[in-house]
Amino acid sequence: MKPPGPKINDRPVRVPDIQHKKQRGEKISMLTAYDAAMARLLDQAGLDILLVGDSLGMVMLGYETTLNVTMDDMVRHTSAVRRGASRALVVADLPFLSYQVTVEDALRNAGRLLQEGAAGAVKLEGGRSVCPAVQRLVSAGMPVMGHLGLTPQSFHQLGGFRRQATHPAEAEALLEDANALQDAGAFSVVLECIPDDLARQVTAQLRIPTIGIGSGPHCDGQVLVIHDLLGLSGPSTPPFAKRYANLGDAIVKAASAFHQDVRTGGFPLAAEKEPTS
Ligand code: KIV
Repeated sequence: MKPPGPKINDRPVRVPDIQHKKQRGEKISMLTAYDAAMARLLDQAGLDILLVGDSLGMVMLGYETTLNVTMDDMVRHTSAVRRGASRALVVADLPFLSYQVTVEDALRNAGRLLQEGAAGAVKLEGGRSVCPAVQRLVSAGMPVMGHLGLTPQSFHQLGGFRRQATHPAEAEALLEDANALQDAGAFSVVLECIPDDLARQVTAQLRIPTIGIGSGPHCDGQVLVIHDLLGLSGPSTPPFAKRYANLGDAIVKAASAFHQDVRTGGFPLAAEKEPTS
């Protein structure tokens, strides 16, 4: 029997479907996924996009920032997510230094995410400075999602994970970056931790969809890190994230019940008596 859940069109989600959603005024849902098991469940739940974010460095690998994530990490996790998800669009992050050094690097590394990881699109951080890379990838047939505002790969320059573009000059620069990404051929752009009103302006100006995180309700879509939504992030859950489940507590409870059972003989269960003939 099929598990309960929303009625889902089984046709794979493609990049043009995401763009048509904006034209039709339909909101876009995106969650991060890093492995096949979770990807299968999120696909079943009907998500439009699964993002193999470089946040995997922090939530899966235990680093303090995303800067340690390598291309090999991204390729391995992207291919795992792709094997788990047959319907949602899989977007993979280009990690730190995989696209900033030369446009050729960007092309080769994005190609690996599509070829070895089987992603349907890549995401990269930055505005006008990354537009030559965006143009080159798009002209080679690789769909690109932009990422503006709080760009975690610039953690040191930004002085930490903090709200961005709160001053008028920064807001103006972000609007120009968003337009430049669109002109370079990006098919959508993530807006992370910027003021709601600025996200509303960007969303109104662009033809391509905006996907917000901590940027208010006016974006064309919303994204969350799956660990924050499931209550697996502990005290480091960002304030804007909505916790839809508390799996962290459920896991501790289940694991300590097992621990107790092993100590007291409650597990394994006594073998059933072999029938005697
Ligand atoms: O790496 C990531 O998970 C992201 C999202 C937070 C947008 O870039």
